[in-house]
Amino acid sequence: MEMKWWQTAVVYQVYPRSFQDSDGDGIGDLKGIIRRLDYLEKLGITAIWLSPVYQSPNDDNGYDISDYQNIMTEFGTMDDMDELIKQADQRNIKIIMDLVVNHTSDEHKWFIESRKSKDNPYRDYYIWRDPVNGDVPNSLRSTFSGSAWEYDEESRQYYLHLFSKKQPDLNWENKRVRQEVWDMMNFWLEKGVGGFRMDVIDLIGKIPDEEVTGNGPKLHDYLQEMNRETFGRYDVLTVGETWGATPEIAKLYSDPKRNELSMVFQFEHVCLDQQQGKEKWDLKPLDVNELKQVISKWQTALGDEGWNSLFWNNHDLPRIVSRWGNDTTYRTESAKMFAILLHLMKGTPYIYQGEEIGMINCPINDISEVEDIESVNMYHERLANGYKKEEIIASINAKGRDNARTPMQWDDTENAGFTTGTPWLHVNPNYHELNVKANLEDPNSIFFCYQTLIQFRKENPIVVWGDFELVTDVPEQVFMYLRHYEGQTWAVVANFGEGKASLQLPSLGQSDDVIISNYARSAADFHQLDLKPYEAFAVKL
Ligand code: GLC
Repeated sequence: MEMKWWQTAVVYQVYPRSFQDSDGDGIGDLKGIIRRLDYLEKLGITAIWLSPVYQSPNDDNGYDISDYQNIMTEFGTMDDMDELIKQADQRNIKIIMDLVVNHTSDEHKWFIESRKSKDNPYRDYYIWRDPVNGDVPNSLRSTFSGSAWEYDEESRQYYLHLFSKKQPDLNWENKRVRQEVWDMMNFWLEKGVGGFRMDVIDLIGKIPDEEVTGNGPKLHDYLQEMNRETFGRYDVLTVGETWGATPEIAKLYSDPKRNELSMVFQFEHVCLDQQQGKEKWDLKPLDVNELKQVISKWQTALGDEGWNSLFWNNHDLPRIVSRWGNDTTYRTESAKMFAILLHLMKGTPYIYQGEEIGMINCPINDISEVEDIESVNMYHERLANGYKKEEIIASINAKGRDNARTPMQWDDTENAGFTTGTPWLHVNPNYHELNVKANLEDPNSIFFCYQTLIQFRKENPIVVWGDFELVTDVPEQVFMYLRHYEGQTWAVVANFGEGKASLQLPSLGQSDDVIISNYARSAADFHQLDLKPYEAFAVKL
């Protein structure tokens, strides 16, 4: 495989609404991000994945775009955006734009035209169908609850929206739609962005009439066309949000020979705590063995024919420490455990804002405290279907997207230093102790664990290129793997449990064979181990 910069990169995701406010309106903005670039440089990351900053009515916090070539008023101006790209570049940080092109906002000018009449030139930019027996065309459902079809009184047809009804799906079969998207992408590439994160890109090949949504037959043709028409001429990172990808499907997207994307961002490991065939709200406990199997499969199956992302968190997922760690007694230990386990694997790691200081979920008691459209819609739907309120709130506290969206905790001043105004979403009250400032003052903090791990990737080819081997004769709660590269072997161990777990390792040669650990131990200790709760370390064998 020819070496690419994004194979050694570490990406940091910024959710601009919640990162840093600079003007006191309670909403994060581009100037705020610029102010925090020194912090990100200190962390050592290579690129920022910027969740959408385009003009949007914010039905889904920017994932409903009404103008791809203008900046959301609350976030600033195009000048601020240019300044962000420039200032990031000065720190060797690339800006990866979120590309949301499965749908637009219903307030996008294309849709405003499209809904005017059946013979409007923009009609076919979206997916319109006649009613069937006076009802919806078929049983496709929206990810945000209810039917995916919305009736338009005026023209007496339904339009498709796989997300909210303010997010009508674009008709990718229309060549003009594709050309508009290529033009828009080229506009951003010419500005010098470092690539694109492609929102629900697996959906663009859908065949609505056959109720096929993900992985439709034309998906890869479109991506090859996109590559040819836009970013193929640039040295950029492209990552597809690919729900439901198997390793075989991942190769279709990311085999360098196919000229599609750099890598996939797939979710198999983070779907393991939901009941099979049900929705994400239908919870089940994590089986660590299953996690080991799934991760190991992805670590070994792609070979030279694909590339994968590594992540625990993003703006749609609950905080990992609350989810599969312990966010009270062992918050620091479990946060570091997840970091060590993930950052020494093969792939491109993504850190979601606040993860590097061990931010945790922020439970709510009532639906009135929730902003996220997905949770709100689900709440009303399930209530109508007879679920108990407590049960629904428990699902939201476990899986709701607001958990990850509470404002970044910078320091212990009011509103965690996020804003001088009223924050758009509640700040987690734990900010007095849990914040960036406290992390930077403590050499043993979660932040410095992340910083060290990022540095390892830059300095050690074994982290980027080494072969992965799962170690199976260990206690069930222990995730242990080896990396092999040019005669070297590293062992990585992570204990998911709080009970006793014993482990035997070959004796280490010398003390500097201990690469990183989340508990203080002398090198001699690593031979015969009683693992502590959430203990994790990496050693050279
Ligand atoms: C992706 C985004 C999510 C958004 C959805 C619709 O899954 O990550 O935040 O709501 O697409 O654009």
